Amino acid sequence: MSHCTVFCTYPLAKTLSGLVLPSCIGRCVISPAQEETLQAETLCETNALFSLTKEQEKQAMLASSSDFHLDEKGRLSFLCKLDSSENPLQTLYFHTTEDALAFIAEYPEPQKQIPLLIEAYASLLKEGKLVAFPTETVYGLGADATNEEAVKRIFSAKQRPFFDPLIVHIADLSQLDGLAKDVSEQAYTLMRTFWPGPLTLVLKKSGNVPSLVTAGSETVAVRMPANALALSLIKASGIPIAAPSANRFGYTSPTTAAHVKEQLGDRIEAILDGGACTVGIESTVLSLCTEVPTILRPGKIGIDELIPILGNVKIAQKAGPTDTTLPSPGLLDSHYAPTTPFYLVDDVSLYQDRSDVGVILVEKSSVPFKGPVVTISETDDAEEVARRLYWAIRHLDSMHLTCMVGSLMEERGIGVAINNRLRKAATKA
Ligand code: TXA
Ligand code: MG
Repeated sequence: MSHCTVFCTYPLAKTLSGLVLPSCIGRCVISPAQEETLQAETLCETNALFSLTKEQEKQAMLASSSDFHLDEKGRLSFLCKLDSSENPLQTLYFHTTEDALAFIAEYPEPQKQIPLLIEAYASLLKEGKLVAFPTETVYGLGADATNEEAVKRIFSAKQRPFFDPLIVHIADLSQLDGLAKDVSEQAYTLMRTFWPGPLTLVLKKSGNVPSLVTAGSETVAVRMPANALALSLIKASGIPIAAPSANRFGYTSPTTAAHVKEQLGDRIEAILDGGACTVGIESTVLSLCTEVPTILRPGKIGIDELIPILGNVKIAQKAGPTDTTLPSPGLLDSHYAPTTPFYLVDDVSLYQDRSDVGVILVEKSSVPFKGPVVTISETDDAEEVARRLYWAIRHLDSMHLTCMVGSLMEERGIGVAINNRLRKAATKA
């Protein structure tokens, strides 16, 4: 096997020099900032795996199929030509350096391995099998949306009730033809503005969509995800892909391939690993089939971005779990929930003496908590909170704690969607 080279910054090189690196990594090449040059030279003298480069331009560094660029924010870049984009530079995001190294160990030659996997997984989808794949929001559990048997398998793998309809994912606007009808100019404007991206549109369904996909409704939810691997997979399969979040029904959505494996690994044919999802919470679901366009589920694309295009937009009232005419089961009070009881509190520092209570923080704190703490964002950065929220919840949920606590964010921008998910994840008193 050929060895790969990892280009990195000096701070990351320091971290890497303290870790056991996968054996496929043959060299670590540091591109230090001016003021770090001396320290970087010392590191290279003490560790033969490390050397220096003056090159700063990422794409120029990544010349061979077995080169990676990794930074301290968990971004891993490599060259890999995919059908869905002109630019061969792919950048995946990881929550930890260890996760990024595990990816390198698994795919030391991504330029060769990933296109082959996409071909193979597209064939599985065409055969009616289940394939989980990354999107910018959360991982989806995909199946051929035109194949009723395949769609049925999604429901049984997830233990999802049949009353909950699925989103159909497309890679090209031409795929809308067989899915939706009477698509308005306004809808096309939304697509041109936000696709590919985290906006799901509920449209009038055309006759070809199996009623299982839409839970018997005359509407269909459609979205074009902004993820190069997802778009390539859908494109290679040549079919629209029905995909709910790839978790057991009611549980927190997965934002890494490992999350999918934990809950569904033994129930599905394949998982396409694309690192951690960059948005981290599910798409905005917008119905264009109501008198006034209605947000059924808040997401990254908020009402303020929709109003300039639509004029008037409503936010759906939440539906109770006993309501059988739910406009969107994502509106159920309890959803996206961990197993460990989770409470929303005004002041998490009241729990500082409880070693059996996990704490989720959205900014750095000097409080000496006795229990485990996950600081989702050091700086109260709402986009970072969204990206790491489900990872943090899952992490604490695996620690067998009495409960976990967290607080709501400012109800603004993506904070609206984050608070919506926090409330749904929270245990009712
Ligand atoms: O970001 C996302 O939307 C992710 C990724 C994989 O694309 N998918 C996702 O799917 O979150 P799921 O099934 O977990 O949530 C889809 C939501 C559900 O609340 C469902 O009820 C609603 O969309 N939905 C789907 N089709 C609908 C329809 N025809 N009318 C109203 N709501 C619909
Ligand atoms: Mg879901």
